[in-house]
Amino acid sequence: MSISVIAIDGPSASGKGTVAQRVASVLGFHYLDSGALYRLTALAAEKAGADWADEGAVAAVAEALDVVFAGEAVTLGGEDVSLAIRSEHIGVGASKVAALPAVRTALLQRQRDFAQAPGLVGDGRDMGEVIFPQAQLKVFLTASAEARAERRYKQLLGRGEVADLAAITADLAARDERDRQRPVAPLRQLPDARLLDTTAMGIEEAVATVLGWWQEQSQATA
Ligand code: CDP
Ligand code: CDP
Repeated sequence: MSISVIAIDGPSASGKGTVAQRVASVLGFHYLDSGALYRLTALAAEKAGADWADEGAVAAVAEALDVVFAGEAVTLGGEDVSLAIRSEHIGVGASKVAALPAVRTALLQRQRDFAQAPGLVGDGRDMGEVIFPQAQLKVFLTASAEARAERRYKQLLGRGEVADLAAITADLAARDERDRQRPVAPLRQLPDARLLDTTAMGIEEAVATVLGWWQEQSQATA
């Protein structure tokens, strides 16, 4: 029997992580934050003095990542980097290293290994296309650029970071553009993904919508 997989993708700060985590928690499924792996790679590369554009060096860093996920916390080489990987600077680095094919290949099996019984909710760009093309439910979660910039701004302020709404809006736009235009795993809605626009929707409603779709899907295939 194949493992149940829900793949959630969409642009930055649309709420993918929050919604995916809650859905996983309600269903008792594992959760894969694939973006964290690219963020960890960007951070580890920076620490190793590797340029984010140096495909060979960054892929070697990705291959050797010494990472442990424990609930909300993540350690890199034993050091707690849960907060360090969430900065906008590392987000930009993640989007740069994620555009390198050898880096994506280096992280592929590590991501597939998260699919364990009873199921997995995976969040990130190529979840439904490359990592888990067999996913029973694929969701493209989005929100307007203004709503997303506002969410990221509040999220950073909440973490005590200095944040500037105009700079975040510009960063998000540049990151969206880079993610959409890149030849490998571009940001786009797959033909078999369901669209969830959360511009005017709270987290609970978004979670309930995904759970409703999952229920429909499970009944249809039972
Ligand atoms: O939360 P946000 O969408 O800003 O970022 P994230 O999910 O933490 O991912 C950071 C960056 O990694 C994204 O901008 C993507 O360029 C890249 N990424 C990717 O290419 N493939 C994935 N499966 C996940 C993230
Ligand atoms: O993973 P991604 O970058 O797509 O977004 P996130 O980190 O899950 O969400 C970004 C912020 O938006 C978080 O602080 C969420 O609590 C918030 N959010 C929201 O206010 N309303 C939603 N419908 C979804 C997320």
